[in-house]
Amino acid sequence: MENRIDGLMDFLRKSVSAFHAVDALCGMLRGAGFQELKECARWSIAPGGRYFVTRNQSSVIAFTLPERGFAPMQIVASHSDSPVFRIKERAEVEVQGSYVQLNTERYGGMIMSTWLDRPLGIAGRVLLRMPRGMESRLVDFGRDAALIPNLAIHMQRDVNENCKLNAQVDMLPLYGDVSAKGRFEAEVAEIAGASPEDVLGRDLYLYNRMEPRLWGPGDCYISAPRLDDLECAYTSLCALLEAGESDHINLCCVFDNEEVGSGTRQGADSTFLSDVIGRIAGGLGADGEALHAALASSFMVSADNAHALHPNHPEKSDAANRLLMNGGIVIKQSANQKYTTDGVSRAIFGEICRRADVPVQHFANRSDMLGGSTLGNISGAHVSIPSVDVGLAQLAMHSSYETAGAQDVEHMVRGLTAFYRAELRVTADGSYSMD
Ligand code: CO
Repeated sequence: MENRIDGLMDFLRKSVSAFHAVDALCGMLRGAGFQELKECARWSIAPGGRYFVTRNQSSVIAFTLPERGFAPMQIVASHSDSPVFRIKERAEVEVQGSYVQLNTERYGGMIMSTWLDRPLGIAGRVLLRMPRGMESRLVDFGRDAALIPNLAIHMQRDVNENCKLNAQVDMLPLYGDVSAKGRFEAEVAEIAGASPEDVLGRDLYLYNRMEPRLWGPGDCYISAPRLDDLECAYTSLCALLEAGESDHINLCCVFDNEEVGSGTRQGADSTFLSDVIGRIAGGLGADGEALHAALASSFMVSADNAHALHPNHPEKSDAANRLLMNGGIVIKQSANQKYTTDGVSRAIFGEICRRADVPVQHFANRSDMLGGSTLGNISGAHVSIPSVDVGLAQLAMHSSYETAGAQDVEHMVRGLTAFYRAELRVTADGSYSMD
């Protein structure tokens, strides 16, 4: 268990951007003997094989094939991105001949105040000119590179009553004094190992440099940047690696752009998953009829973190379906199908966890509050597979430093491993066998 927590903390440290998160996941997959496929090349896949493929360097799908060839699929989906600040194209803003700020904009919906007064790093990818084209390279400043200072209470006496922050006015990070003018692009190029004129494009983001930490009695809590949803990305991949051989196809999907609606080429609302499934079917010689039958017998787990009961605001949770950190895997339900869970999928996933001795707990929003949308129903629009929405209980979702239960990491790995190992078969519409 300690190893698993150490592994998660190490993964969180490396995953300073969605690109870095996917790079770290690919490293785990290569280490476990998975073979990398390219979307732009013909696939040659074989029964019993283990593969992965990326899109935009920020989404990845890994899968394992059974010896018997094409078969129903058991899928876990999570997301690689978190709410952050993106650095705009003309990055430097000079303030009164005194300071150089970085020009940023919001990506996703973060709690902005949590980005104030802490050392920030800068990371992402740059596109470099090469003799015959261009090449993408991941970069990380690897130092405390910027900071967004609060305004002193003496200059805003009502700050504790009216904390309003404007993304353009209050949130631009300080990069250096005026002597740093013109330095930013040079620093980006230097870190990429190129000259500034050879940097053709970039996707760079701020990140919180605070370290992941365990705390509380018996180290029961983990606090870290980007727990939503890298905790589920990491634990789902651990489960895929742990599960070993099965009689069906297991897929582990980590999609980018969940925080901005998933509508990109590499998001859950793209053809990435359906393309991969189609190519697996084609590669194993399955025809359209076999594909449809397999899809109808498949099952998806959408894994994204959920809101724990807040110690200062218990009234924000539902009267009975409230979550405790370390209370086990969360199954989320909503009448309006904001979550994909229904009686059938709840029964299947709950039973898999019960057999594996993994605790589960149930989440519903207060009836007068809307929840967020999830990957489940977005992917479901492209591949119609019965699905359950799950997650782990956490506090301060979309803060730059979030808190979850340390024991839940192991709960999720064990629960998802049991899911990947279970042989689910439809016996009648709505009924299943599970061996
Ligand atoms: Co999330």
